[in-house]
Amino acid sequence: MTTRYRVEYALKTHRRDQFIEWVKALLAVPFVLYSQPAGVVSDDESLEQAAAEAHRRYAEIMRDVENMIDDHMARQSLPSPLPSKLGMLVPTAGPFFTRLPLEAAFKYQDRKRHISSRRYVAPSFNDVRLVLNSAQIMAVNNGSLQLATFDGDVTLYEDGQNLEPSSPIIPRMLALMKNNVKIGIVTAAGYTTADGYYARLHGLLEAIAASPDLDPIQKQNIVIMGGEANYLFEYSPSSPHRLAPVPRADWLTPEMASWSEADIKALLDVAESALRDCIRTMNLPARLIRKDRAVGIIPDPPDMRIARESLEETVLNVQRILELTSLGSATQASNTVSATPSTPRKGVPFCAFNGGRDVFVDIGDKSWGVAVCQEWFGRRAAAATADSASVSAPSPIKGEHTLHVGDQFLSAGSNDFKARSVGTTAWIASPAETVDLLDEIADFTKKKLA
Ligand code: IMP
Ligand code: MG
Repeated sequence: MTTRYRVEYALKTHRRDQFIEWVKALLAVPFVLYSQPAGVVSDDESLEQAAAEAHRRYAEIMRDVENMIDDHMARQSLPSPLPSKLGMLVPTAGPFFTRLPLEAAFKYQDRKRHISSRRYVAPSFNDVRLVLNSAQIMAVNNGSLQLATFDGDVTLYEDGQNLEPSSPIIPRMLALMKNNVKIGIVTAAGYTTADGYYARLHGLLEAIAASPDLDPIQKQNIVIMGGEANYLFEYSPSSPHRLAPVPRADWLTPEMASWSEADIKALLDVAESALRDCIRTMNLPARLIRKDRAVGIIPDPPDMRIARESLEETVLNVQRILELTSLGSATQASNTVSATPSTPRKGVPFCAFNGGRDVFVDIGDKSWGVAVCQEWFGRRAAAATADSASVSAPSPIKGEHTLHVGDQFLSAGSNDFKARSVGTTAWIASPAETVDLLDEIADFTKKKLA
């Protein structure tokens, strides 16, 4: 039965970030009280006063939320914690990896976006999202950023496009590598061979090869994780596409190695049949694509657009069917920027998501993809420091030292959302925002050094 509740749930819970909505609602009160103009024309002085007052009130609210997160964090490490105030107000708020300096981040974004000077448009979802990003960057940039992972489509390049040599993202990524930050490109795009990834990322790979600033070890500090968590490639300047595949046995975690081929096939069979049903019942202009670790639907003919509602319906439908068969488990991640895992996993994990023009069901998800990068670079660091006298045990890069940058953070039908369970995250809406975010990282690093 499709109850009103279920409609609300599908429309609201899956398509909204409750933490961001809650902060936005808190900021709406001072906006109404202090920013609304009194008459048609206001003089400069009263405008400035109103902006200053709104700024002070917004900053206070952000400081209050920051304190609530501190309290939430203090409780999350206790053996059987009582719920925090934040947990009661925003039940989807999960544990945090780092504290978030929200007041400082708000002041930073207010200087850029002049949020407090607006009289007619209240602090928006995007304002709050960008304040959270800045706070997260301030937190991890405090000398602790070791691994930055990036989604591909919409994050590094426009949907379906490639990272061309002219992209402004490239010099900024090289600057990160110059600072010895490790890079993982964690994309859903699932190609079994290097040429597919080279086509998407050639601008970056060639820039690394040509860079006179990076030493050979720094050049090695990048991996590509394709198909969410299914194909790993390392940088290899002498290989045909500057990439060499890493055999699965060299990087699968013990838990991933326990997913049986038979279970994987059974899960993809069920997903395929559910996707075919969706094509038929909604008469979608789409065709099915089956791969060894994924199954999806893409527009047919290719220039056709499948309606957003149909894509979302397909995701929710397939996800439900897979969960009911108990073959798979969609990993739970919390609805906050920086959350640690809370739910045990059973079955083969999968990720059903709306790619904007298509729908895919992948084996594993980005929480596994980012976790493999954390282990891979952790192991490399241990090997580099090991000498004949002492062999240090490899320890993965921790969540609080990891930042995943992506565009898909709504709770259902989004694939970057899953990365929240293994590291801190930044939610961008376009490659241009990724450029701004990388500039912020450089900006904060410079300030720290100064
Ligand atoms: P991402 O944004 O880098 O995670 O890439 C997502 C896009 O990759 C999807 O929207 C698809 O268009 C494309 N894609 C290509 N192959 C696959 C696959 O095997 N699984 C999921 N997405 C794929
Ligand atoms: Mg994306």
